[in-house]
Amino acid sequence: MINIKKANEVLDKALHYITAEKFSEDEKSAVVLDAVNNFNNHLNPGWLKYRKSVSTDEAAVELTDYGSYCVDLYGNEFIDCLGGFGIFTFGHRNPEITKYVEAQLKNRQALHSQELLDPLRGYLAQAVASITPGDLQYCFFTNGGAEAVEMALKLARLATKKSWIISTLNGFHGKTMGALSVCGKDVYRKPYLPMLQHTAHAIFGDIDDLRKTVVKLKKTGEEIAAVIIEPIQGEAGIIMPPAGYLQAARALCDEYGICLIFDEIQTGMARTGTFFRCEAEGVTPDILTFGKAFGGGVLPITGIIARPHLWVKEIEDNPWILGSATFGGNPVCCAAALAAINYMVKYDVPKMVREKGFYLKNGLKKLWEKYSKIIVDVRGTGLMLGVEFIKSEVGYCVAKGLFGRKVMTAGTLNNASTIRFEPPATMSYEDFDKVLERMDEALSDTKKEFNL
Ligand SMILES: Cc1ncc(COP(=O)(O)O)c(C=O)c1O
Repeated sequence: MINIKKANEVLDKALHYITAEKFSEDEKSAVVLDAVNNFNNHLNPGWLKYRKSVSTDEAAVELTDYGSYCVDLYGNEFIDCLGGFGIFTFGHRNPEITKYVEAQLKNRQALHSQELLDPLRGYLAQAVASITPGDLQYCFFTNGGAEAVEMALKLARLATKKSWIISTLNGFHGKTMGALSVCGKDVYRKPYLPMLQHTAHAIFGDIDDLRKTVVKLKKTGEEIAAVIIEPIQGEAGIIMPPAGYLQAARALCDEYGICLIFDEIQTGMARTGTFFRCEAEGVTPDILTFGKAFGGGVLPITGIIARPHLWVKEIEDNPWILGSATFGGNPVCCAAALAAINYMVKYDVPKMVREKGFYLKNGLKKLWEKYSKIIVDVRGTGLMLGVEFIKSEVGYCVAKGLFGRKVMTAGTLNNASTIRFEPPATMSYEDFDKVLERMDEALSDTKKEFNL
């Protein structure tokens, strides 16, 4: 219902929240109350059920962030091991990234004219080609991960003139219709059936099953456009494929003329200790998707890079056939991505990730030894680590215990059997020690609570 008085009231409060230097105690309470009420009345009451931030007496409302910390309205600093599910590899509002974004906004432009040539888009494409293996060359920039996956799927179909797409069980590629079609979890797909036609799923990490899936389709006269794989499954709970799986998938795709897509939205940008995971595996996919940390933890920008043989004449003849996202690759987001790549290369973030990942994983493994009745596995590589618990309720209890001790991790009530650790590469060793100490305490409490 149109109510200008109400709109003005809300806008005054929101704009004050953005610009105020300080808040009185009454103002803080009012913001917390407004946040809870607005989530309940205008977003989705269900969201609150799954937030550990509302599991305490008073909901934790975020105010600001920096480095490895998220800070709430009351000044509580949470060590961020959730890392925005992979966004904050370079920390929160890294000044060496924000300075270029601010300069771009202040001195140049935020969005492009849509007619003149925007040079940052070109520089960014060239920079991406310079940090990805093989002959990956042509980029298309988008705004979100799922959108990048859509472009990858469409490009594979367009370039190969074939239709089937094979993905993996439990895989996650986003929730738009095409991306969801190649996801491998019933819970997300079922309400939207039928999904995109001509999609099949193979068991992740099982090259024989992938081969069988390909052969069955071929023997029945079907044509396969692409195989799409996460080099390490993130959302599924940090599942690493066996050594050689990705290379074997490459060989299989070459044998049958299938386009190989690696979805590196989570594993890319140094998260696992190399610029992209495919580098560590010695495989060049035909299409690579990137996102999350690509915007430097400051702005949203995602995209794909493809090998030249896929950039078929049809795309040249009609450059908008693949996509024409109004905001995709806009200058201010390109500035963030360029600054992120610059930071990653200048400070050798992959090395940072390898060293700190080794340190954190070792610490977690020691806790596994100490709490072997609670933890069943510690896995992953670089700073993409997972700790698996005997059951989801136990995992949730540990995640909640950590949250109460001001450490954020990626484990929800929805499914906390595996808690994910994806902290910034810039996190100090002192903070890693604090995380491990607090995890020890949370595990000890959990042990008592569940009588283990
Ligand atoms: C591997 C992978 N692909 C795609 C996506 C979807 O990205 P977005 O949430 O930005 O649409 C995600 C998100 O977690 C992801 O991990």
